[in-house]
Amino acid sequence: MVPPGYHSPMAGQPLRVAVLGAGTVGREVVRALSTGWGQPDLELSGVAVRDLAKAEAAGMPSSRLTDAPAHLIADEADVVVELMGGEEPARTLIAAALGAGLPVVTANKYVLARHGAELERIARESGAALRYEASVMGGTPILRLLAEDLVGARAHAFEGIVNGTTNYILSEMAASGASYEAALAAAQNAGYAEADPTSDVEGGDAADKLVILARLAFGAWLDRGSVVNRSDHGKPGITGVVAEDLAAAADEGLAIRLLARARRGEERGPIGAAVRATAVDARSGFAGTVGVRNRIEIVTDRLGTITIEGPGAGGAATAAAVLADLAAIQGRRGSTWAHLPPASSATSVAPEPASWFEGPSGARYPVER
Ligand code: NAP
Ligand code: HSE
Repeated sequence: MVPPGYHSPMAGQPLRVAVLGAGTVGREVVRALSTGWGQPDLELSGVAVRDLAKAEAAGMPSSRLTDAPAHLIADEADVVVELMGGEEPARTLIAAALGAGLPVVTANKYVLARHGAELERIARESGAALRYEASVMGGTPILRLLAEDLVGARAHAFEGIVNGTTNYILSEMAASGASYEAALAAAQNAGYAEADPTSDVEGGDAADKLVILARLAFGAWLDRGSVVNRSDHGKPGITGVVAEDLAAAADEGLAIRLLARARRGEERGPIGAAVRATAVDARSGFAGTVGVRNRIEIVTDRLGTITIEGPGAGGAATAAAVLADLAAIQGRRGSTWAHLPPASSATSVAPEPASWFEGPSGARYPVER
């Protein structure tokens, strides 16, 4: 019998991989699949984009390109890799593939944070695997850590830097005096930012990742709309952070980082969670996490605190997680949540910080020491 989550190709045939999207991440995945990344039983069957000429100019194999993703899925796929981003048509294509029993690998935190519960239900019903390691921390394997390696320990809380673009901006502004605009432009050029960087700088991307982490850490899909991403001054994400605040924080032995924090609530109660520009001890691991790197600390019962740090964005780093998920599908390991019970649902309530740091701009940042 074929195990759940594994779509069986014709006997003796390689698994046909359809890649939707050939941008920063998709390009790297296509290159790996085209140059024999080391998994001989996977074959690139097609690459869906909007602009065929642009993809060809970027070196994508012209014989494999199509602008019809739904047909590619229906006719030439044993596995679907969704790297288009955005809500639609990504959500519909993922749902259709799962509903048809095809395993899906995606990096799309936007879709997962809003439609994760529905996609999990479809995947459980059809038996198709849904894997999404690349959706949080780029290539750094946080989701597998939570969903597999830590199943013997109960996670009480986690906090972390989960957005590479904003961490790059904050640490560049503090270290080199780069302007906000110059640091954002450099992060965009390096391929770290989303197609619309508003979701990075306003904390929406970090809030999406918080929802995905909470599903695996606490067993509940959080209502995305309830996750607060504003600091006390009312400006979202890092949009209210100015150079004068960073300098004043440094004078007091603090650094500013965009932190996503969540704490398990009572059974069926709300989860305490928020994404905020936060003042951290300048000697802490969070302050020492600079550039595009991400860092998450998970507080557990049996293991105490576990920390994971690594690259959080970028084409090559993120492709590493996509390829690891493809190998997991080939190895018949099921969905990212395979070792966990079905999820419940929960809302989020922003916790009140114990103390605040007030910058010269008048903005107040919660203090975490
Ligand atoms: P990107 O550079 O903007 O590339 C998107 C690709 O998808 C392009 O090839 C685009 O084709 C194609 N596409 C978009 N809409 C399409 C449609 N309706 N039909 C067919 N093709 C379509 O994006 P990316 O940075 O690679 O990100 C891809 C996904 O990975 C997103 O979900 C993102 O959040 C996630 N992610 C990115 C990173 C990162 O560091 N970049 C890290 C982790 C996760 P055209 O160019 O022809 O429009
Ligand atoms: N735009 C995202 C970031 C990409 O900067 O973290 C990785 O998810």
